Amino acid sequence: MKKIIALGGSNSKKSINKTLAVHAAKQITNSEIVIVDLNDFNLPLYGIDTETENGIPEAATKLNDLINTADGLVVSLAEHNGSYSAAFKNTFDWLSRIDQKVWKNKPMLLMATSPGGRGGATVLETAKTSFPHLGGNIVADFSLPAFHDNFSEEGLINPELNTTLKEKIEALQKAI
Ligand SMILES: Cc1cc2nc3c(=O)[nH]c(=O)nc-3n(C[C@H](O)[C@H](O)[C@H](O)COP(=O)(O)O)c2cc1C
Repeated sequence: MKKIIALGGSNSKKSINKTLAVHAAKQITNSEIVIVDLNDFNLPLYGIDTETENGIPEAATKLNDLINTADGLVVSLAEHNGSYSAAFKNTFDWLSRIDQKVWKNKPMLLMATSPGGRGGATVLETAKTSFPHLGGNIVADFSLPAFHDNFSEEGLINPELNTTLKEKIEALQKAI
């Protein structure tokens, strides 16, 4: 049994990225899914003074330990003004203070989605450039445009997108 972490890069309770990450992770066979909701890792705003005065928050250590136990990662990033959501970036910054290899070379399916036509393509490109320097082992990436028009639990409504996503999931399956 493989352990897959599904993480939405958002603190929205109704995060479409968390929904997409869980949807993809569920299709990995012989696996258990651990859903990471950033709201469950309550972290103060990162600042060097806060770190110096109070050290690393326990929630950050917990998440770091959890990533260590995973066989594979499904991460879907929310895009805020062309970049990471503040909640994700803050979590990421804390994690990088524990271990610069945040993603620990675990095979990752990296995705982004948004209600708009670009599907978070900008944040996805940023992460594709940055994550490999931070222990990211991106085996496949996928952007889902117009989430509300294209997403269905039974499979993406657009057949081409559905086939593409399945191929990306297969790439992760092979890598774990
Ligand atoms: C502050 C803010 C900035 C946003 N900027 C973008 C953007 O640059 N590109 C985009 O496609 N969507 C943008 N959106 C819309 C988000 O894609 C949308 O809120 C989406 O639901 C976020 O993903 P989540 O549901 O996983 O949090 C923005 C939303 C907010 C609140």
